[in-house]
Amino acid sequence: MNKVLITGGAGNVGGALAELLVNKGYQVIIVDNLLTGSKDKLPSKEFSNWKFHHTDVNDYDSFSKVMKEERPDYVFHYAALVGVDRTLANPVMVLEDLKGIRNVCELCVDLNVKRVFFSSSSEVYGEPVEFPQEEERTPLNAKLPYAQVKAIGEAFFKSYKQTYGLDFTIFRFFNTYGPKQSGDFVIGKFVRAAMKGDDITIIGDGSQTRTFCYIDDNIYFTLRCLEEDLFVNQVLNLGNDNEISVKDLGCFIKETLNSPSNLVHLPAREEGDMTRRLPALERMRSATNSDLVDLRTGVIRVAEGLLEMGEVNEDELVISLGILA
Ligand SMILES: NC(=O)c1ccc[n+]([C@@H]2O[C@H](COP(=O)([O-])OP(=O)(O)OC[C@H]3O[C@@H](n4cnc5c(N)ncnc54)[C@H](O)[C@@H]3O)[C@@H](O)[C@H]2O)c1
Repeated sequence: MNKVLITGGAGNVGGALAELLVNKGYQVIIVDNLLTGSKDKLPSKEFSNWKFHHTDVNDYDSFSKVMKEERPDYVFHYAALVGVDRTLANPVMVLEDLKGIRNVCELCVDLNVKRVFFSSSSEVYGEPVEFPQEEERTPLNAKLPYAQVKAIGEAFFKSYKQTYGLDFTIFRFFNTYGPKQSGDFVIGKFVRAAMKGDDITIIGDGSQTRTFCYIDDNIYFTLRCLEEDLFVNQVLNLGNDNEISVKDLGCFIKETLNSPSNLVHLPAREEGDMTRRLPALERMRSATNSDLVDLRTGVIRVAEGLLEMGEVNEDELVISLGILA
């Protein structure tokens, strides 16, 4: 079975992908510096076909040691500093991730990795100029360091293909949520608040729209790209195109969980909060017939997951457990 190395594999998306690949019998190597990730997101210890390295991808010496020891067939480069507030507050740290991208490219070439998968972001489109946002046609308008690092990252992978023949697939993830996402992202934050009866806090007037992709849609699609050699040397949006405003999302979560929480507004961010997001999904849909997980199902799964992981305790609940059934 192929050996797959996942950077950021103790995070939300990387951790879920690692778990899926371990269940499928792959040899999985997880590399993470636990900056926002956690060992709780690693696959179950009952499986022996995975290994964890507590390593910083941006540090060439330590990451090359892991790569040379493990010699993976495929690499998923998902490690990155994430989160709007965190990345706005730490721009120099964000730029450090360019080192990690270069390290991944160099080492994948040196070790003849068959293909590298890169988690780019909808943020590369920047403040939107047209809808839906389509991979080739829509201009990239990235201005903030996080978005620029992703855009330059894409250029790295395309250039290493051109010069050294390293195959890649670039996924532009649109908001991807699941029970294991850190608590500072919108769905997890709203669901936690609704379960406990705390205020659901909306930044600004809440008219900004987003689309939300449940984690299973992301990782099962990725698995198909890996196993069926799909989208080799291509860029594609990976997400859901059901658009909702942040304010409506707050109401939806409150109603879905039958919560007494109040919706309250905080001052708008000065930058970093795009007005609208909507992916064109023709490429993604060309390779899958399955329906995407709807928001109601996803919200309930997140709530169940938070209970199961002890992130919200039963004695903190103000909603009926029957809602989750
Ligand atoms: N989840 C989304 O909505 C979304 C949207 C667009 C893009 N992305 C991208 O997808 C990837 C995964 O995001 P996520 O939601 O799982 O976030 P996450 O924070 O849960 O995962 C990122 C992981 O990378 C690790 N990490 C960060 N810097 C590292 C470094 N230098 N060396 C090793 N490990 C490091 C963190 O500890 C964490 O476990 C990221 O590259 C992110 O930019 C995610």
